[in-house]
Amino acid sequence: MKSRKFRVGLIGAGGIAQNCHIPGWKNLPEAEIVGIADVSEPAVRKAAELAGGTRTFSDYRDLLKLDLDAVDICTPNMVHTPAALAALNAGLHVLCEKPLAVSTADVRAMGTLADKKKLKLMTAQHQRFTQGGLAAKAWVDGGNLGDAYHARVRAVRRAWLPPSPGFIDKKLAGGGPCMDIGVHALDLCLWLMGFPKPVRVTGTSKTVFAKGHDMPNLWGEWDRERYSVEDFATGFVHFDNGATLLLEAAWMCHQVENEDLLAQIFGKKGGIKWPSAEFATVTNGVHAQGSLLHPQSVPYPHWSEIAAFMDCVVNDKPSPVPWTETIKVIGILEAIYRSSEEGKEVAIKG
Ligand SMILES: NC(=O)c1ccc[n+]([C@@H]2O[C@H](COP(=O)([O-])OP(=O)(O)OC[C@H]3O[C@@H](n4cnc5c(N)ncnc54)[C@H](O)[C@@H]3O)[C@@H](O)[C@H]2O)c1
Repeated sequence: MKSRKFRVGLIGAGGIAQNCHIPGWKNLPEAEIVGIADVSEPAVRKAAELAGGTRTFSDYRDLLKLDLDAVDICTPNMVHTPAALAALNAGLHVLCEKPLAVSTADVRAMGTLADKKKLKLMTAQHQRFTQGGLAAKAWVDGGNLGDAYHARVRAVRRAWLPPSPGFIDKKLAGGGPCMDIGVHALDLCLWLMGFPKPVRVTGTSKTVFAKGHDMPNLWGEWDRERYSVEDFATGFVHFDNGATLLLEAAWMCHQVENEDLLAQIFGKKGGIKWPSAEFATVTNGVHAQGSLLHPQSVPYPHWSEIAAFMDCVVNDKPSPVPWTETIKVIGILEAIYRSSEEGKEVAIKG
């Protein structure tokens, strides 16, 4: 008898769904996308075609009535929490794009519901599955870092501002580059540091260029009126073990690199950088350095992330990116905004 396939419903059928998640699910012969929901008719039609023909819905609550095992959420950030709570309440496992939510209260609500219902909840942090991420993590897990006492995190672009409303309208996005790309490098950095507990933050967030016309955007024009998130944010974080971290996130600035993506961790035994996976250490009293990157390629990271999610559900393994880790990432980003508003150092929630 043919065994049942893993049945997935997709919520949100835009860029990341079409380019990464649908190919990722199609890559798994044991899985099938049985329905897709999106408020946009052209987006859901195109996604259904890419998925090889599947049922479509304009309201995700109708999708949740199908016989599903899990949902994969690829909507704008502010839809993540209501969609995930509805899916968990319907008894479904959830893979959800980053940021899982834009507040620690929402992350906790999603996480505690998943735990109560014994369902898996995974944040789609695909950078953990990149070659640089995997290599750096293996190096750290091999005991080469020693105690981490400081880190630098950067997700700074010259002029790549995502123009779609889902990114620039605060009601849909919840935050700008801090939540959009800062979250990638910060998650990677905390993962390499072993997720120490962040306790307090001094931060600032501001809109430097995005309300004006001085900075040409390499991704085209955007709606200045609707633009209501920061385009630059920075924060200085203290952890309960005494370690510190400096973060910068921007969609626009005057720098020569199109994108400067970095997590650099300083440990007592060695130091490591992501994504380059370059390390520095002292061996037998001699300074030593190198790069862990090997020409051998790893599978496409979004596909690995999706395969890891299905594996954790099917084989009842822990979530590869659990909410208890994500809440520390979101706690820092949320505190940067709060510190900026209040003009002082703030304690981290979560
Ligand atoms: N991991 C990554 O590398 C990566 C890259 C890009 C985007 N993302 C994340 O993926 C998410 C989506 O980003 P995107 O680039 O695909 O955006 P997008 O704007 O291209 O697509 C979002 C889609 O969600 C739909 N949508 C909006 N509200 C909805 C609702 N209530 N129900 C169902 N569908 C709804 C929109 O119509 C749109 O088709 C965001 O959270 C973003 O942060 C992750």
